[in-house]
Amino acid sequence: MVSRVIPVDPFDLVVFGGTGDLARRKILPGLYRRFRDGQMPQQARVIAAARSDMDEAAYRAEIRAAIEEYIAPRHRDADTLDAFLSRVGYCAVDADGQDGWPGLAARMRPDVVRAFYFSVAPALFGSLAERLHDHGIADAQSRIVVEKPFGNDRASARALNETLAAYFDETQIYRIDHYLGKETVQNLMAVRFANILFEPLWNAQFVDHVQITVAETVGVGGRGSYYDGAGAMRDMVQNHLMQLLCLIAMEPPHRFEPDAVRDEKLKVIRALDPVAPGDIVRGQYAAAGGMTGYLEDVSNPASRTESYVALRVHVSNWRWKGTPFYLRTGKRLRARSSEIAVTFREPPHSIFGEDASWRENVLIIRLQPNEGIKLRVMIKEPGPGGMRLVNVPLDMSFAQALGPEGADIPDAYERLIMDVIRGNQTLFMRGDEVEAAWAWTDPVIAGWESRGERPCRYDAGTSGPEDALMLMHRDGRRWREIAP
Ligand code: BG6
Repeated sequence: MVSRVIPVDPFDLVVFGGTGDLARRKILPGLYRRFRDGQMPQQARVIAAARSDMDEAAYRAEIRAAIEEYIAPRHRDADTLDAFLSRVGYCAVDADGQDGWPGLAARMRPDVVRAFYFSVAPALFGSLAERLHDHGIADAQSRIVVEKPFGNDRASARALNETLAAYFDETQIYRIDHYLGKETVQNLMAVRFANILFEPLWNAQFVDHVQITVAETVGVGGRGSYYDGAGAMRDMVQNHLMQLLCLIAMEPPHRFEPDAVRDEKLKVIRALDPVAPGDIVRGQYAAAGGMTGYLEDVSNPASRTESYVALRVHVSNWRWKGTPFYLRTGKRLRARSSEIAVTFREPPHSIFGEDASWRENVLIIRLQPNEGIKLRVMIKEPGPGGMRLVNVPLDMSFAQALGPEGADIPDAYERLIMDVIRGNQTLFMRGDEVEAAWAWTDPVIAGWESRGERPCRYDAGTSGPEDALMLMHRDGRRWREIAP
């Protein structure tokens, strides 16, 4: 496969929170990969900013170690790594104080794209925006990238939108949801809108139901205090799962352009019915198989926060009335497995009579791991013995279909950061979209809080709480197995 990397314009990218986990794990390694592939121009520079006094050499050594940790040896080499690190700088800046800002201002170059990545605690977003503005560091062409969580509910998201709007135009604000940068998530749009095959069937008349699963094996890790105040609904459903739901359910935008796409996603969010209490199952993992339990992980024995949630959701519009969307996500599940499965209805009549082996057509969009797309279809079982049917996958694993380069799938952050430099907001959330997503999740959370509900227990390393099975069984349906 010929590499079709298109270089971007020269830029100065300032990463606030440059010593943090996201910068070390994702942002800097992602930038290195773009550099290695020739997408970052020679004049591009990355300036990490954080509170600690650290000299540039020490910071570069830290990033070298991070890249060596997170990028496999076959995807890096000493020369490009040295060349990349020579473009990485460090500047000590106090995000909510006055120290360091003039120094940062002095480092910014004229005539290059300026982008500022807010990879810091949300409480600092407002003060960063204000200081960038007050010190004349950001100009009218500059962009800011804002990490999640974007608010904790609708009111706080709105307040944050207003704060940012005091200093930046909406076209300068890039609210990141890294799921939108995942290759297969973008592929979902290609599959739907670049083929004639699926779209005529993509509605309640032909789709029986949709399952969206984002299963993780990890627990809350070192983020216990954030996570315990958030839970799976705020941490995953309000953003990542909602975005996936929107891409599946939206009408075709007239062009693949930021507002055209985001307008259509917003309409889906607005068409979501409130979720009935009986359509939600919340779970919390318990110690099992040598793994610690949630309560211990967050050091809060009384916590009622969910580490798992499953929901039945209805999109009330002409296209989807009558097709439920089942969403589930959780930590410490039996496998890391994220996928969207669109299950089609039975053919109106079987010319083969009753056949016990009949199964529905299912389109499976596999987000991770083993990215790819599969369509399960019925065929005749080969060989003699009459007409026996069998359900088989038409399988397009990206690794197989696209060769070794297909397997080298860029990380979501790489794509999204380059989009910021290109000035393309298509894969970023608009302010009204985030607020609408909170407006839908807020009452769900308020509901279980007012009922004082405790999440059900599930053993770490399993498929989640038993009660989640019922959510589908009572509709005569089954969850797909969570398998890698
Ligand atoms: C983050 C959540 O947004 O997404 C984490 O805050 C979660 O809790 C992560 O683990 C999952 O992302 P990915 O790309 O590993 O599926």
